Amino acid sequence: MTKLKIQHSQVGLAYRDQGTGPPLVLLHGFPLDHTMWNSQINALSTTCRVIAPDLRGFGNSPLSKGDAERGIDMAEYAADVLALLDELVGDDPVILCGFSMGGYVLWQFVLQYPTRVRALVLSDTKAANDSDDARQTRLDAAKAVMCAGVGPVAEAMLPKLLSPTTLAHRRELVEQVDTMIRATAPEAVAAAQRGMARRPDVRENLAELTLPTLVIVGAEDAISPPAEMVAIAAAMPRARYIEVSQAGHLAPLENPKVVNDEMLFFVASLK
Ligand code: MLT
Repeated sequence: MTKLKIQHSQVGLAYRDQGTGPPLVLLHGFPLDHTMWNSQINALSTTCRVIAPDLRGFGNSPLSKGDAERGIDMAEYAADVLALLDELVGDDPVILCGFSMGGYVLWQFVLQYPTRVRALVLSDTKAANDSDDARQTRLDAAKAVMCAGVGPVAEAMLPKLLSPTTLAHRRELVEQVDTMIRATAPEAVAAAQRGMARRPDVRENLAELTLPTLVIVGAEDAISPPAEMVAIAAAMPRARYIEVSQAGHLAPLENPKVVNDEMLFFVASLK
């Protein structure tokens, strides 16, 4: 197995940078890190320069003082990514791909820095913000994780992240995701939960996002179900919608072949 180097940027984000070609940036979900994209990094770096950061607090990227208590806004994660891209690609516009929480960050990035993006890939994410109940659940979870640690987070999230078939039959994949979650610092979980709880609803902005867009979702996604992603694709002027069979929320990990093929096809269509 090839081990690829994780680098640290001046802005403090750890990232993988692999391949040459148009820059493609992969933003991971919660409470995960850039390794959720390993299969996409390997497949897409044959034609793109793939940049996959660990968002602040996740993987090998440190938190800043006070982040856990304060919470990190999706716009702050987006500003971190902008600073990383300033360093790596200057103002060259990127193909920006966000999975779930990475998608929440993507919305803020493209709305605030539209000239820095040439195309979008939305994987298993939402445009709506939280209901009052969901918001309260997140704030409670942010408190609880600081006492109970990430074990209960892994136990609660695994059944939602993976399809029933994956959970029942793909032990290695379940363990990979479980290990990724348990490696996350409680402070990073608290910071992200507080930030996600106050993220904006961007459904009103979708019509103004006229970039070529790929919307991709696991057919059995229980967190951002296909119906919600169909609505996102319908509201975006240039979106292509793909439903991935044999996959739950973590479609890029559960059915990487379909996700990689669709992303390669999409990237090729941009030339
Ligand atoms: C994720 O996969 O990033 C999370 O499920 C997002 C969320 O908690 O809304």
